[in-house]
Amino acid sequence: MQGFGVDIGGSGIKGCVVDLDKGELVGERVRVPTPQPAAPEPIYGVVAEIVGRFGWEGRIGVTYPGVMKHGVAFTAANMDKSWIGTDFASGLAAVIPGTVQTLNDADAAGIAEMAYGAGRDERGLVLMLTFGTGIGSALFIDGRLVPNTEFGHIEVDGADGEKAASAAARDREGLSYPQWAKRVDRYLDVLEKSVWPDLIIVGGGVSKKADKWVPLLSTRTRVVPAQLQNDAGIVGAALAAEERIGQ
Ligand code: BGC
Repeated sequence: MQGFGVDIGGSGIKGCVVDLDKGELVGERVRVPTPQPAAPEPIYGVVAEIVGRFGWEGRIGVTYPGVMKHGVAFTAANMDKSWIGTDFASGLAAVIPGTVQTLNDADAAGIAEMAYGAGRDERGLVLMLTFGTGIGSALFIDGRLVPNTEFGHIEVDGADGEKAASAAARDREGLSYPQWAKRVDRYLDVLEKSVWPDLIIVGGGVSKKADKWVPLLSTRTRVVPAQLQNDAGIVGAALAAEERIGQ
């Protein structure tokens, strides 16, 4: 069975047909730089262009890097503030042929990891964290998603958690992996005090270099790198659309 996923990020918008039996992209994905400012109208156009390039007319899952409930964006930590209150699902439905399901980007990545990657067959409380421009979170209880957990914004030492511990903070401040791992460790220490997961899956580009920082963490929870890496958002969005998971 095939599906279609689009992953919207602060720097790129990526889409592809997905093989839902294997959890893999079918052929090459299309990536278009995110228009700046990253406001709704130009992004609708980019999504329509990507979907049109594949001639896809079935159900489509589309991620958004903020709180997404019933098609409406509620936050925009790393996007243009004009997103807040925007009915994304209706806006997209007007420009693309298939039925649209929208969901948070980390929730989509988590859905993919739970179905095809590091979270396969894992029961109990599983927490997926994506380290990128911000920190995204997806929480699963016995495989079922608790949407929009937004753990990137827990308060750590008086500041928004993702500010110091995102992958963008590492780049911005030129931190070595050991230096950055200390920040991640502190962030996880605070997070672990209120959530007691059985497993933490770490995703985002930095998960490719997991051996450089994951062994330095002192978390009480088992931490494993994501397996789908760059494509998790696309794959998870496509699966969410097919199975109507998320909000
Ligand atoms: C947003 C989340 C998002 C994460 C990763 C955070 O700043 O609040 O909704 O999942 O960044 O993009």
